[in-house]
Parts: sequence; C-alpha cells; structure tokens
Amino acid sequence: MATAADYNLGPNTFPRGWFIVAESTELDKGPMAVRFFGRDLALYRGESGKPVLLDAYCAHMGTHLTASTSAMIVKNGEQIEGDSIRCPYHGWRYSCEGDVDDIPYSDGPYPKSASIRSYPVVDSMGCVMAWFDPDGREPEYEAPFLKQWDDPQWVRWELDHLGELAIHPQEILDNMSDVRHLGPTHGQPCEYFSNEFRDHIIIQRQGGEMQLYNAKLQTTTWYTGPGVLLSKQIFGEAEMFELIANTPVDDGVVKCWHAVLYKGQQNPANHGDKAAQIQAQAGALEAFAADFNVWKHKRPAIKVMQLKTDGPFRAGRKWYSQFYATPEEAAKIREEVNGVLLTEGMTKPEDAGHNIDNDLPF
Ligand code: FES
Ligand SMILES: [Fe+2]
Repeated sequence: MATAADYNLGPNTFPRGWFIVAESTELDKGPMAVRFFGRDLALYRGESGKPVLLDAYCAHMGTHLTASTSAMIVKNGEQIEGDSIRCPYHGWRYSCEGDVDDIPYSDGPYPKSASIRSYPVVDSMGCVMAWFDPDGREPEYEAPFLKQWDDPQWVRWELDHLGELAIHPQEILDNMSDVRHLGPTHGQPCEYFSNEFRDHIIIQRQGGEMQLYNAKLQTTTWYTGPGVLLSKQIFGEAEMFELIANTPVDDGVVKCWHAVLYKGQQNPANHGDKAAQIQAQAGALEAFAADFNVWKHKRPAIKVMQLKTDGPFRAGRKWYSQFYATPEEAAKIREEVNGVLLTEGMTKPEDAGHNIDNDLPF
C-alpha cells in the first residue's frame, strides 16, 4: 500500500472534491456510521429530506453520534429532530451545520467551541455526494449530475457496492491515460484515443471493437474532480452511462462503486428495458472487474516507466495532483495541463468519426 506522499502528491493527504459517501436508499434506512478521508463521520437524513454529514464525535465526551445504536433515544426513533441529531449519550443536539442547538439540561446560548465540522452534501443520481476540502472551503463546482437521470426513457441504476480496496486512488485515475491496457485487459484494442484536460475535468475519448460486446464501442469518459467518473458509451443500438466512483477511506485505501444508466427502447422505459439495464450493468461490471482485479494484486507504480507510445500518464498525474495542492498551486497546475493530448501511434477521435459528445454536461 502506498500513500499520497509516496506519489509525491501534496501538501494534502486527501483530495479536494465531490465524492460518493453512500447510496441514497441506504440513508433512507436510518443514520450511518461511515469512514472517509481518514476520519470517522456521522451520516443521516434530516426530517426535511436533507442529507447531513458531520464529524462523528460529540464535543461533550466523544461519543460517536451514529455508531451507538442501542441507546434508548435511537431505539425510540427520537434521535433526529428536524435536520438536527441528538448524541445518544447525554442528548446534546447538533444542527445540520454542526452547532450545538440544544442541551436537555442546560439553557443556551451554547458555546461555538462545542461545534463539530459539517460537510456540504447533496443527493445526486441516487448517490449521496459530499464535498471534501481539507481546509473546509466551500465547493468550487457542482456535484456531477446527468440530466438523463430525470428522463423517463433512461433506466436508473442501483449501485454495485464494490467495497474497499487497499490501493491509492492515483492507480485508479491512471486508467484515464492508459490507452495500452484496453486491448490486453478489456479485449478492446482501441483504434483512436485522446485525453483532454479542462480545469477540474479530465476527458478520455476512445473507440474500437469490443470482444465482450461483439460490437464497436465508442466512449467519452470523464472525471468531474478526483472521485466520480462518468462514461458515455455507445455500441450497436445500446446507449448508456457508466459510473465508477472512488472515495478515499484512509491514505492508500479507497471505497468503490459502479453502476449503469441505460437508455430504453421505449419512452417511458418498459419492463424489457429494465431487464436490459440489469444486463448492461452486469456486462459493464464484468469489463470493469478486469481493472479492479489488476489493481487488487499489483504493487504500487510510484513511477510509471512511460514509453513514448504509452498514454500521457505524467500529464494525467499532474492533473490529479491539483486536488492535493493549495488552491493557488491548483490554479497553476490547471493552466499547465489544460488542453488536448494525443498519444503517439493513435488516430485522433475526430479523424475516426467519434461523434457521441452531444448532450454531455461539460
Ligand atoms: S457525549 Fe455526547 S452528549 Fe455527552
Ligand atoms: Fe480499464
């Protein structure tokens, strides 16, 4: 296992950005104790429907707000009041902003020193997404969203929960520049390929015959920040978006999710389309599992021995390092890497007739 410092990322240990922290339906079942970004966190849905993410430990005596499920106020379903949550030990109540707004046995005002950190959280595409910035800055851009999520012709996903992987996310992000693994790993030696860097977004365009689908596959794949990949994919009659998400748990450990949003033949999508979505998500997972399995068993590539005909790993890593840098440094990195990069030996997407970028959110 290698850490952010091993990859020369920094000065921060965890990247800035929007990350999936749960599937929305998980949160509907009640408060959750989760761990991300090297910290224990309390995640719950307020009575208004608002998702809330707080540092886990109560300022009073250090009780985990959502892990102690046997306390009476938890059993009685009295822990959430409005969008606030009561600590199960002595009942101090925290607002969704992380401020103590009630102590059952003491009149206010309550000290600001009792406040705990609250993180910006939204529901987007069936996922609970949180904005993490090590210094607590507000979001720089909106959480990823596909308008097709609200289109009745598209069959919504349920997430595949892939669990934790003892790998630094750098190795996952390398995939964006990695044109030469597509043949050996995925059975799809691509015919054209390019990368584009646009501030906090990295885009990959590629296409070729896919053995698994027995069809020509074209994909436009992008990360919005360091944690959420979306990929528009077209093969034969099928059109879909794949989601691959990684969220750092500890330095060198990530949690991953996968899903597919699928365009039905009918509008609104019918039962047959729903069955096709399940099949498409399973097929995409099989393809992705090939990467996942490599990552599981490889040693860290602290340095990539990059050939001229490899994809632009170095530029990709530079782009990724912005999320570990100060905002000032991040702006410089963006300026340095922004633009399109081609790989020696690969045709340009536009020369190969790549034309699937309509209706994308960037
Ligand atoms: S430890 Fe939370 S209220 Fe006492
Ligand atoms: Fe891959």
